[in-house]
Amino acid sequence: MTAEIINGKELSTELKLEMKEEVEKLKELGLTPHLTVVLVGENPASKSYVKGKEKAAAETGISSSLIELSASTSEAELLQLIQELNEDKTVHGILVQLPLPEQIREEKVIETIHPNKDVDGFHPISIGKMMTGEDTFLPCTPYGIITMLKSKDIEIEGKHAVIIGRSNIVGKPIGQLLLNENATVTYCHSRTKNLQEIASNADILIAAIGRAHAITAEYVKEGAVVIDVGINRLENGSLTGDVDFENAKEKASYITPVPRGVGPMTITMLLKNTIKAAKGLSKIEG
Ligand code: GUN
Repeated sequence: MTAEIINGKELSTELKLEMKEEVEKLKELGLTPHLTVVLVGENPASKSYVKGKEKAAAETGISSSLIELSASTSEAELLQLIQELNEDKTVHGILVQLPLPEQIREEKVIETIHPNKDVDGFHPISIGKMMTGEDTFLPCTPYGIITMLKSKDIEIEGKHAVIIGRSNIVGKPIGQLLLNENATVTYCHSRTKNLQEIASNADILIAAIGRAHAITAEYVKEGAVVIDVGINRLENGSLTGDVDFENAKEKASYITPVPRGVGPMTITMLLKNTIKAAKGLSKIEG
């Protein structure tokens, strides 16, 4: 079998066009969705992600602003800024780019963002609601993956989904979202024994490890759906995924490439969440 490719770039373009129309309507009603991104320090990867977010926002008519703080910013200063953004009625979504310098505790920052503006879906209240299946902001990469699966009408119910990676941003929440869709979910990680045996049982295989081409064709069951969340930079500067795409695609039924796979979807779902925030959905009083 040669897999059908799920092109996240094309799907993103379609979704952004839909969002652009929605934003135009909101603007006619006097509501311009606004995303504020906070970047602390000079991490080059973070800078490039943030640029991508600003560009995508502009494409859909969402307004965005970037607050850049020095790497020596204290935790108290950042928390103070977040409080101000929480109170600013013109700001609908707040995103603090991770990772943060080591003097700042990430969990304090995440907990300070008001849940109604938590467009990353990282706040414990958002995570709790996701677990119980209530409407909330979903973390952008898992939300993007589910959207990709649904765009191809891929059946999730009753399927065995194997997640490789257990980060708070990707692995844990994608497992939860697939469970919410009635998949049978197995989490694997760096301490998992017999990884290949478990992975090769998956109907839906999610690779979120962060190691180039770690998932070879031997990890892929014939006909499996393979979602590659990895973004690894090779020595020659090019980007590649966690999956050995060329060989895995000969066994999979569907596969996502890198680039033009999950990556563009992450930013697109952030914009969806920003519109949701502006519309005051997913609201918590107080
Ligand atoms: N760093 C890497 N991915 C993300 C993300 O989705 N959100 C934020 N805030 N930081 C990140």
